[in-house]
This record gives sequence, structure tokens and C-alpha cells, in this order.
Amino acid sequence: MSIIAQRMAAIKPSPTIAVSNLARELKAAGRDVIGLGAGEPDFDTPDNVKAAASAAIDAGQTKYTAVDGTPELKAAVVGKFARENGLDYRIDQISVGAGGKQIIYNALMATLDPGDEVIIPAPYWVSYPDMTLLAGGTPVTVRCPEQTGFKLQPDDLEQAITPRTKWLILNSPNNPTGAAYTAEELRGLTDVLLRHEHVWLLSDDIYEHLVYDDFRFVTPAALEPRLKDRCLTMNGVAKAYAMTGWRIGYAGGPSELIRAMAKIQSQSTTNPCSISQAAAVEALNGPQDFIPERAAVFKQRRDLVVDMLNEASGIRCHRPEGAFYVYPSCAGVIGRRTPEGAELRDSEAFARYLLEREGVAVVHGAAFGLDPYLRISYATSTELLEEACARIVRACAALR
Ligand SMILES: Cc1ncc(COP(=O)(O)O)c(C=O)c1O
Repeated sequence: MSIIAQRMAAIKPSPTIAVSNLARELKAAGRDVIGLGAGEPDFDTPDNVKAAASAAIDAGQTKYTAVDGTPELKAAVVGKFARENGLDYRIDQISVGAGGKQIIYNALMATLDPGDEVIIPAPYWVSYPDMTLLAGGTPVTVRCPEQTGFKLQPDDLEQAITPRTKWLILNSPNNPTGAAYTAEELRGLTDVLLRHEHVWLLSDDIYEHLVYDDFRFVTPAALEPRLKDRCLTMNGVAKAYAMTGWRIGYAGGPSELIRAMAKIQSQSTTNPCSISQAAAVEALNGPQDFIPERAAVFKQRRDLVVDMLNEASGIRCHRPEGAFYVYPSCAGVIGRRTPEGAELRDSEAFARYLLEREGVAVVHGAAFGLDPYLRISYATSTELLEEACARIVRACAALR
């Protein structure tokens, strides 16, 4: 009998991390590979944040902290929600974890009983379905096709809700499509949720600051205060402050849920890294002016990538509102043949072809629940993006 638990059979390792690892291995082996698989900004953590971390080490802030966040960091999070989102949370309504990922994991572990359903609009961030399964719940995916801007429609939400629905997970701006919901679009969804009092909303706002073309970000608990008592508003410092490796995420929500999440954390990771927490205080309280500057760079890159990909035969790329991903359709290349004569049967075969022929690493759409598409991250230098897109155009032109 295997030592491995049965629950492991239901879940897969993160496919996006697998692509990043493969690109890294090929590079280490001397191949000229451009990795467009990773979900992290290429910018460095700001100097004031690094200095705060050094100061924390010097001051001996190297011990265990309160389980779900130091009082200083919780206060900074309360301040952030008030300042940027118009959301009024108390300290006991805040949870800090080792990344947004741990926050979501804690929330699902703390709330799902066997058979409880979680509505996940597809395309989705790869971890939502697997975390739901790990916690014993049932993911209910709802297709959000390109024609609706990859956004969940109120009628489709209404139809997906059953008496067993516990959560809707909304992610705006979205990984992998970059789609972001306007206030009006969100209103359609919050109106549905108001009619179903047993359904909670997990709002994953981690890409909040990466929106372009005058798009105005709004979070559901602020838009519809009547939902705030059953909403977990999740965010983190990873993407906005280029702090992916520091592992700090946070959330605001009802204190009963926050306490249950802390209980799980107390029996798993104890607390997020003390030094990273001190750095996150500085990130949230310190200067914020570099955020729009970096967003302006991302907007230029988005436009470059969308324009160049639309030159590639068989590819059609929409122009999304935010995040640092595009999700182009590759329906036009499926069924074509490589110069070696192999038929490209699906997006995974196309992604493999791009990697083998041109050394461009992207993630195939099946990983995100809507195919045939590719996820391309433009969180890399403009020069590399130009080169990568030129290679994709060339690879497509070589197909028969
Ligand atoms: C949509 C989404 N949510 C949450 C996370 C988790 O972020 P972290 O755990 O790095 O804070 C990510 C990271 O890629 C993400 O893309």
C-alpha cells in the first residue's frame, strides 16, 4: 500500500510553477530560453522596504510573532483598506499569512465541509480548484468565454448556485486573462449574491494596482456594503510591491472567520516571517508613488505584446484591463503541422512546440480551465518581450 494519502490523487502540482521550473532548467543547461510563464514582476523590491527588513533584523525582530500578524502590520492593513478601498475593518477582522496563497488556503480549510461547493469562474488561477479539493470541497467551474471578456455573467452565477454553495471566488484583475470587472459589472454579481444569503464571496484583489487605461478598480465589499459580513477581501504585497519572495498576504473579513483561519495557521506555519512582516509594514505605510510608474511600464508592455501577437498567424489576442497577463486564443493553429510534420492537436502541443523550436516558455490554457488559449506573462523586460513575440510570430509562420 502506498504511503501517499488518497486526497493527493485529486490534486495536481501547480502547472505554472512547472513551466517556470522547466524554463529555468533549460536555461541552466545552456539553452536560450525566454520564460513567459512566471507570475511575478521583474522589478526589484523598493529600497525603503529592504531597509525596513534590515532594520528589523538589527532590532532583533527575529522571533515568533502573533499567529496571524503583528499588531503593526495589522494596523497597516487596516490603514490600507481604509485609504485605498474605502473599507472600514477592525484589527480583529484582519488576517496576515505567508502569501495570499496561504490566506485563501486557510479560508477554504476553515470553512469547507465535504460536498460544499465553491464557484470558480473559468479561466481561473490554477490553485483555486486544487485548494478546494484539498479542503474536501467541490469546485464548480463556470465558463466565462472570450465573448463576455472572460467575465462571469450574473445569469450564469445564478444558475451555478445550489444549496451547497459556500463560496464564490472572484479574481479581478484576473490571472490568467487580465480581465477586470467594472463597478457596473460587479453590481450585476453582487445583486445575485444579495439574493442568496448562504453564499460567501472571496475577492482576490492581488492585482488591484495593475490596471490600465483609466480603469477604476473597486472591491465588492466596498461596492455593496450589505455583502461585507460575508466577504473575505484578500490582497497581498507580492505583485504591487514586487515582493513575491517575501511571502506576505492579508485579508479583511468577519472576525469569526478570521479566528478560524488563525487556528489553522497556528497549527501549520505558526506565523508569517517576522522580518517580512516588518518589510510589509513599510511597503503599505511608505511611499506609494512608484506603483503608478510601474503600472505605466506594464501598460506599454501589454500594448506591445497584444499588437505583436496579433501579427502571428493563427493567434488572436484581446487587450485586457489589468494584471500582467494576456490570454490569446490559439484556435487558429490547432490542426496545423510543424515543419517536422507533427500535428498540433491542442494548446499544450503548441506550447511545447514554442518551447522546443524557439525557446519561448508559455503556459497552455487547459491549466486554467478554458482552451485553446495560452497564458503569456508580460512581467519581463521590454527587450525580451519583443524578442519573444518575434519568435512566436516566426514559429507560427513555420506551421503548415
Ligand atoms: C490570482 C492570484 N491570487 C493569489 C496569488 C498568491 O499570491 P502570493 O501567495 O504570492 O501572495 C497569486 C499568485 O500568483 C495569484 O495570481
